[in-house]
Amino acid sequence: MWRASVVTLFPEIFPGPLGASLAGRALAAGIWSLDTVDIRLFATDKHRTVDDTPAGGGPGMVMKPDVLGRAIDAVATDARPRLLLSPRGAPLAQGWIEEFARGAGVVLVCGRFEGVDERVIAARGLEEVSIGDYVLSGGEIAAMALIDACVRLLPGVMGAAASSAEESFADGLLEYPHYTRPQLWEDRPIPEILTSGDHGKIAAWRRAEAERLTRERRPDLWAAFLGRFRGGSGRR
Ligand SMILES: C[S@@+](CC[C@H](N)C(=O)[O-])C[C@H]1O[C@@H](n2cnc3c(N)ncnc32)[C@H](O)[C@@H]1O
Repeated sequence: MWRASVVTLFPEIFPGPLGASLAGRALAAGIWSLDTVDIRLFATDKHRTVDDTPAGGGPGMVMKPDVLGRAIDAVATDARPRLLLSPRGAPLAQGWIEEFARGAGVVLVCGRFEGVDERVIAARGLEEVSIGDYVLSGGEIAAMALIDACVRLLPGVMGAAASSAEESFADGLLEYPHYTRPQLWEDRPIPEILTSGDHGKIAAWRRAEAERLTRERRPDLWAAFLGRFRGGSGRR
């Protein structure tokens, strides 16, 4: 069973949205499991202190390495990657998600305040990952995004009808546009080719649209896509 362990100051937030829809059904079906470690339980003083002022001064508070280290140590030692959600981490992309989904699961450490003491990152071998170039107030929502993206790829979660093979990023391109009935909505028809029944032409149209959208919206992805044909590696 694929397993997510989340080290957090707010265990009560979980499973949250992960308890609904695809991920929630898969959780109930035992396709994956979720456990949380409450960092505060590993504080030893009577106020259960988990943070302290930054060495060298400055605003905010920093999560204490002794408390966080003990909380991380409470997670079973196994082969799962240990990730720290962090805006300065490597940007998460679908290629990584696929790799995590193929493995045994993930251990996710959620920061709060100004972040965590640098020493705990090194001492516990945490790999920093970011869900985007913006700052959240804590790692929990980022952890949920990562888990959700992994869980939907687990065997048996999406079902036969839906497939990740044609989704955005699957082959380095954004996905083509979708339409459904009614045929005419507010004077806007479904593109004729999609109702032609000609599967070859439909596939070609979708491919051309995927390439157009990627070129227009994501020059970075487009360049990486073209690079693959020129012998580049293009890590996603
Ligand atoms: C307020 S943020 C800390 C920001 C930090 N002082 C900085 O400037 O990089 C608190 C926590 O939210 C989480 N976080 C914020 N933005 C994130 C992002 N884009 N991706 C992943 N985690 C994020 C991290 O766990 C971080 O430790």
